[in-house]
Amino acid sequence: MRAWVVGGLALAIGMTGLAQAADLAAKPDDIIAGRQAGYDVVSGMFAAMKATVESGGSVKPLAEGAKGIAAWGAAIPGMFPVGTETGHNTKAKAEIWSDRATFEKDAANLHDAAVKLAALADADDKAGFAEQWKATGGTCGACHRAFRAR
Ligand code: HEC
Repeated sequence: MRAWVVGGLALAIGMTGLAQAADLAAKPDDIIAGRQAGYDVVSGMFAAMKATVESGGSVKPLAEGAKGIAAWGAAIPGMFPVGTETGHNTKAKAEIWSDRATFEKDAANLHDAAVKLAALADADDKAGFAEQWKATGGTCGACHRAFRAR
C-alpha cells in the first residue's frame, strides 16, 4: 500500500487549510470543505490499516501513513479558525470554540497516539500495532462525541 502518498496528501490538504485560515476574510466554506476532505482521507487511510492487522502481514509499510495521521492531528486546531462555525454543512459543534483547550487536547491525543502507532510500525511490532490502532481509533471517537454533531 502506498500509504505515504496518502499521508502526504492529507498533510498537503492540512497545509492548504492553514494557508486559507490566514486569509479568513475570503472563504470559510473552503476551509470547512478542506477539513472535511482531510478527515475523509485520514479516515480511509486509518480504516485500510485494519486489513493488514487482520491478515497478520508486516505493519512496517503503514509507518508513513501513521505519520501522516499524526501530522493531521497536529494540524486539526488550525483547520477550525474563528469564522468557520457554520457553512458547508459543517458538523462542527459550537463547543470547539467555547472549550478550545479540550478540543486542542483531543487533537493532541490523536497526534500522540499516531506517533506511537508509527513507532510500532517502524519496529514491525504487529501485536503492539494492533493494540495501538484501537487506541488511536479511541481518540477519534472521544473527540467526535464531544465536538462533532451527528
Ligand atoms: C480533535 C477532534 C477530532 C479528532 C481527534 C478527530 N476528529 Fe473527525 N471530525 C471532527 C469534527 C469536529 C468533524 C466535523 C468537521 C466539519 O464538518 O466541519 C469531524 C469529521 C470527521 C469525518 C467526516 C468528514 C466529512 O466528510 O464531513 C470523518 C470521516 C472523521 N472525522 C474521521 C475521523 C477519524 C478516522 C479520526 C481519527 C483518526 C478523527 N476523525 C479524529 C473532530 C475530530
